[in-house]
Amino acid sequence: MKKLSTLAFTSIVALTAGISAAQADKLTLYCSADDEFCQVMARGFEAATGIDVNMTRKSSGETFAQVKAESSNPKGDVWWGGTGDPHLQAAEEGLTMAYVSPMRGELHPWALGQAAAANDKTIGIYLGVLGYGYNSDIMAANDLPLPTCWADLLDPVYKGHIQMANPNSSGTAYTTLATIVQIFGEDEGFEYMKGLHANINQYTKSGSAPIKAAARGENTIGVAFLHGVVKQAVSGFPVDGVAPCEGTGYEIGSMSIIDGARNLDEAKMFYDWALSAEAQSEAWKVNSFQVPSNVSAESSPLAPDPATINLIDYDFKLYGSSAERKRLLQKWDEDVSVLPQ
Ligand code: G6P
Repeated sequence: MKKLSTLAFTSIVALTAGISAAQADKLTLYCSADDEFCQVMARGFEAATGIDVNMTRKSSGETFAQVKAESSNPKGDVWWGGTGDPHLQAAEEGLTMAYVSPMRGELHPWALGQAAAANDKTIGIYLGVLGYGYNSDIMAANDLPLPTCWADLLDPVYKGHIQMANPNSSGTAYTTLATIVQIFGEDEGFEYMKGLHANINQYTKSGSAPIKAAARGENTIGVAFLHGVVKQAVSGFPVDGVAPCEGTGYEIGSMSIIDGARNLDEAKMFYDWALSAEAQSEAWKVNSFQVPSNVSAESSPLAPDPATINLIDYDFKLYGSSAERKRLLQKWDEDVSVLPQ
């Protein structure tokens, strides 16, 4: 498997190397994962191909808004990373283009399912499980009970102790909103979000900010992807992750080529390379512990194992649809974010 994967990628590079030598190529990459992971992808592609990469990191919802705002004069070539829902919305709105990569045979079915849901306008690059994490020193110092469920976070004892991102800018937070609605139903789910709001100390722009703040002692509990909690723990911070008892949602981190990309050949080269085992095996070395979509990519034994977690049957097609994402965000803006705390 490993050999085949290396061969497949080597032949893609050989085929495309002619193009890169002829044109002094460059690529504009919009990246919505953590900065370290984005840097690894940008610099790794430069090293593999000699193509210069101009990379900008923004959260998933922010990048969606940027791609949409630029659609009459696209500036980006590839949007790599971030949660899948806004990638699906971009596909539906015609902001991204269909591409069938020769690397597809190497991917997990969940990565291909994302492509199937978007008429090939996006594809899965990693999988991450949602949950939350807390700073165990602050919990102990404040004599706080250790939560194990989503419902526990509504306890008034946690008032001012919980942080999550804003679901408009952050894919992590939108995944949280959609997960809660899928677990509790829409009415009860929005009551849940209102109850949580009463305990929130700040809505951040980026999805990983709340657990980073908890790690550094500036916050107690952060809603986060569990691989993000592990990242802080292996960096030496006193954080523990929770896979909530009711079950939880997950992301299929995705990649899309922007419709009207100015550097289309380079965009396709990046896309193929980013699906290779070689490229994806670099992630955990910078403490990015998502599950890679290439079945032969290496991952760390410290990475959360989705097979051991009670995952909901997340409806990506519905929650990634333009109408549903807009509707839920508007409802959260109007019914939840305006309430006093
Ligand atoms: C972190 C996670 C990624 C996720 C991303 C979404 O970087 O490690 O797995 O896709 O957050 O970021 P956002 O800021 O949009 O919530």
